[in-house]
Amino acid sequence: MTTRGERDAFLKQVGYNLFLLKAENVIIDLLTDSGTAAMSSEQWAAINRGDESYAGSASYYRFEESVRDIFGFKHVIPTHQGRAAERILFSVLTKTGQIIPNNTHFDTTRANIEYVGAEPVDLPIPEFYEPALSHPFKGNMDVGALERLVEQVGPGRIPLVMLTVTSNSGGGQPVSMANIRGVKEVCSRYGIPLYLDACRFAENAYFIKLREDGYKQKSVKEIAREMFSLADGCTMSAKKNGLANIGGFLCTNDDFVAQQEKDLLTLTEGFPTYGGLAGRDLDAIAVGLQEVVQEDYLEYRFASISYLGRHISSSGVPIVEPPGGHAIYIDAKSMLPQIPSSQFPGQALAVELYREAGIRSCEIGSVMRRASDDNNEDVPNAMELVRLAIPHRVYTQSHIDYVIEAILEVYKRRESIRGYCITHQPQFLRHFSARFEPYNDSLPVRPLAACSNSLLTA
Ligand SMILES: Cc1ncc(COP(=O)(O)O)c(C=O)c1O
Repeated sequence: MTTRGERDAFLKQVGYNLFLLKAENVIIDLLTDSGTAAMSSEQWAAINRGDESYAGSASYYRFEESVRDIFGFKHVIPTHQGRAAERILFSVLTKTGQIIPNNTHFDTTRANIEYVGAEPVDLPIPEFYEPALSHPFKGNMDVGALERLVEQVGPGRIPLVMLTVTSNSGGGQPVSMANIRGVKEVCSRYGIPLYLDACRFAENAYFIKLREDGYKQKSVKEIAREMFSLADGCTMSAKKNGLANIGGFLCTNDDFVAQQEKDLLTLTEGFPTYGGLAGRDLDAIAVGLQEVVQEDYLEYRFASISYLGRHISSSGVPIVEPPGGHAIYIDAKSMLPQIPSSQFPGQALAVELYREAGIRSCEIGSVMRRASDDNNEDVPNAMELVRLAIPHRVYTQSHIDYVIEAILEVYKRRESIRGYCITHQPQFLRHFSARFEPYNDSLPVRPLAACSNSLLTA
């Protein structure tokens, strides 16, 4: 436990960046659902069975079997986490000047594409940009926009299309089977491979079961298999729907691509039967993947996440509707209309939640998107969100009640909350290490210049 005075001091010490706090100074940690799951007794048992042979371990074969059972792809390449799978995929398939369309790229995907000199393009349906609007599959890609893009730039400039299930950047919203099918149809017509960013595949499959006609009688595993049968490969962070604390993988049906990926894997991650992981981690993932598709678990998870969403939204707090599969996203732009995007309303709200009650959340807005530093103007359509991600199997209803009370306290004093400016940032993925200071109205208009100790990098 910490006092408010202590938290004020910690905030100053870390330049108001919640990623830089010591976890021991956080009371409820909703920063992410990634790698923060409490593992089950079966997973711990599997860890004790881990075979640490350098090559061809039994752990690898158990992992491969579990992945194939659900994902169905020919090649299963383990990596230490999702972004390593992304780096290998884009290094192998993408060239400078190419374009990668996605419903919405997550930050690491976007950064890995930019790192190889290609351009990530988001093509969500228009409803995606309206937080208050409810839509059963707000994570869908705009299939017409995809087709227009392919026609405009030519299929030769698009080495692959991605669909992120569920869309993490916009509310944990699902993609329907009909939409995956529609995107696949366009891809097939132009000979472009389709990849799924599968981090939250089980939550997506459960949404399909609950909301899409024709899926009520199917199991989550059957639905997931159908999703993957429409794709040519996937990237996966097992830290999310693998219920593991570390790990990921890359899949493909293409022998030639797989060979190149394995060669690069051996160079930078490890031999293809461990890929940067210990044998015991592979075993934990093998079990976690089978546990996460259990419907009782998913029912409990969705019920507890929407409990948080309903309690705050019924008191007026604007959230992304409907509640997502792994998190509730507060719409900081509507809650704090006095703070323009260039002064980071999401960051301001996340800081206040920590100051109020020691709750750590994550800004998903202009800090993560890195837009407002370039032109100091509000980006049209830009959402400014605060994500309250719920770690798997960690918190109880009383913890969530505490979170609800804290959010409502901050909501009461919302008009007094002010913005921030950045005093230091790295070239990529700035939200992890940027430093901020409270925006100072008395200084010149440009917010970055308003920071007294501006150390901005290019
Ligand atoms: C949709 C999505 N893709 C990719 C990643 C990257 O995974 P990892 O953190 O394991 O590198 C994340 C992680 O937050 C994610 O949410």
